[in-house]
Amino acid sequence: MSVNETIASAVGTQEETIIPVKDPIEEGKRESIHVEEGKTVGKPFADDPKFKLRNVEVFYGQDRAIKDISLDIARNEVISFIGPSGCGKSTFLRCLNRMNDSIDICRIKGQLMLDDEDIYHSKKDVVELRARVGMVFQKPNPFPKSIYDNVAYGPRIHGLANRKSDLDDIVENSLRKAGLWDEAKDRLDAIATGMSGGQQQRLCIARAIAVSPEVILMDEPCSALDPIATARVEELIAEMSESYTIVIVTHSMQQAARVSHRTAYFHLGHLVEVNETNKVFTSPEHELTESYITGRFG
Ligand SMILES: Nc1ncnc2c1ncn2[C@@H]1O[C@H](COP(=O)(O)OP(=O)(O)O)[C@@H](O)[C@H]1O
Ligand SMILES: [Mg+2]
Repeated sequence: MSVNETIASAVGTQEETIIPVKDPIEEGKRESIHVEEGKTVGKPFADDPKFKLRNVEVFYGQDRAIKDISLDIARNEVISFIGPSGCGKSTFLRCLNRMNDSIDICRIKGQLMLDDEDIYHSKKDVVELRARVGMVFQKPNPFPKSIYDNVAYGPRIHGLANRKSDLDDIVENSLRKAGLWDEAKDRLDAIATGMSGGQQQRLCIARAIAVSPEVILMDEPCSALDPIATARVEELIAEMSESYTIVIVTHSMQQAARVSHRTAYFHLGHLVEVNETNKVFTSPEHELTESYITGRFG
């Protein structure tokens, strides 16, 4: 496939509408492309941010994995994080609901605000935070319990239902929103780990939705799924974006192009560029973004 065909398929448009990219960067020249620390090109900020993240740095011991990143995530947007393996996408994503807390050597600096509340305030209730900011992982990880109990798990812990009928309603609604109700309604007592991978991932989405989160973080949610299951999860992301703010890490540029409003390109712990997804894939502002999306490294 030519470069333009790749981009055309990535943004789902015809080739003729694509703005041609510049000539490929010569081998060896890439290392000399400059990333100015703390300077992200494009549109990293938003008018009505759900998350306001400023000068974020993350260290694993002495190693600085995230280097002075500032970014807003807008309310009800779907934003994709892309970039080569090891560039810090998962690390940065995990800061948003303090999933890094369990890593002893991990330290976070900077200001991370969710609706003007400091996520890292010493008195912050992390359990409550994770109910507001749910997470779906790369590998579907249902509990070895029934389908019903997987979805009911969070609502039970958070005391969201007083009566069995309320809990039944939450389970049904969550499974419906996750596009799984028709497949699951006659086998709610069946063990969840017996489902197909795609069904398990939608169950994990239902489990995340069940506690009425405001934000859903997804770390490569489709990388263990086949193309049909992937398409179903992508449809779901589009539907869910009406009610939730969604942050998705993906190694698939086609996926980023299909599901997200904005795309953020990471490189070696820097946030190089953030822009409307279409712009990132058709006329990136930074040479490194261009180099990545045209497949010259990654
Ligand atoms: N638990 C950890 N302990 C030490 N280093 C880590 C840990 N997790 C990630 N890293 C390092 O942080 C950097 C960013 O990793 P990661 O966030 O997983 O990147 P990505 O998700 O973009 O592939 C890498 O250099 C990786 O080796
Ligand atoms: Mg990762």
